[in-house]
Amino acid sequence: MKLRYLIAGLCLSAVALSAGAETPIVIKFSHVVASDTPKGKAADYFKKLAEERTQGRVKIEVYPNSQLYKDKEELEALQLGSVQMLAPSLAKFGPLGVKEFELFDLPYIFDNYTDLHKVTDGPVGKQLMSKLESKGIKGLAYWDNGFKVMTDNKPLRVPADFRGHKMRIQSSKVLDAQFRALGAIPQVMAFSEVYQALQTGVVDGTENTPSNIYTQRMNEVQKYLTLSDHGYIGYAVIVNKKFWDGLPADIRDTLEGAMHDATQYANDIAKKENDDAMASIKAAGKTEIITLTPAQKDEWKKAMARVHLQQESRIGKELIGEVYQTTGKRL
Ligand code: LMR
Repeated sequence: MKLRYLIAGLCLSAVALSAGAETPIVIKFSHVVASDTPKGKAADYFKKLAEERTQGRVKIEVYPNSQLYKDKEELEALQLGSVQMLAPSLAKFGPLGVKEFELFDLPYIFDNYTDLHKVTDGPVGKQLMSKLESKGIKGLAYWDNGFKVMTDNKPLRVPADFRGHKMRIQSSKVLDAQFRALGAIPQVMAFSEVYQALQTGVVDGTENTPSNIYTQRMNEVQKYLTLSDHGYIGYAVIVNKKFWDGLPADIRDTLEGAMHDATQYANDIAKKENDDAMASIKAAGKTEIITLTPAQKDEWKKAMARVHLQQESRIGKELIGEVYQTTGKRL
């Protein structure tokens, strides 16, 4: 009897040993923002869920704040397989050759998260993700950040205030056109370089979400912030397709479940994270906050409306039309 228990015990230990010895699958998840942002928190939450649910068979290494790669390099690194997962802003897919994502950059195309989700959760969202496959990339989810404000060292109240100002943009031709429509001079720059460029006056101002501005301390080097809500920043969570397709099916299923729940979490916290960041910017007291009057906001919309028409050739008239139809609104 005793011997039977001993043998059974030995067998169990052997199984435990071999399970313990299994080398975990490592997923390097690189991103450019601080951990204390909607994307940063969602990446960490995905790591937690994925590691718990795969019981250590998968290890997610999150590298925030451009620690590993800057904007452009991270996409190249994903294609080469040096990292496995990213969540670039939707404004950064143009250089990869998937310019249709820039529809999310069209000024005033979305009034709120609800309209935006109708598009990302619908056929347009799916269609855009499928365009990544020929680039060796698989799109897993859309994660929210939020609506953009403008910052500068001079007050920006009416379109004429932008004339001649150098403004940092992400690598999107639509954002380039947006600032040109305002008479400004757009300059593409990696996210990790923005604080210093603002501090040294390489650019006069920029646009971003309150959470990105506050966590990079941009508000400390910008005297004015205009609550313009003129555009949206969100992310596509993407993976190297070959890597993803090569995962054991049960692991892939578990990770997809974790991604589903992390997406829910990301989109639940995004608005509050930005509201809290805005409150912190106000409390820091270094930046004057400008609220536009309805008439001023109309002027902004009027000045930027032509960008929609101009960009039909780049994004596709039909695609833009589908967005208008989905939200029931057009500028
Ligand atoms: C930016 O480059 O301004 C941002 O989109 C960075 C990010 O990932 O939110």
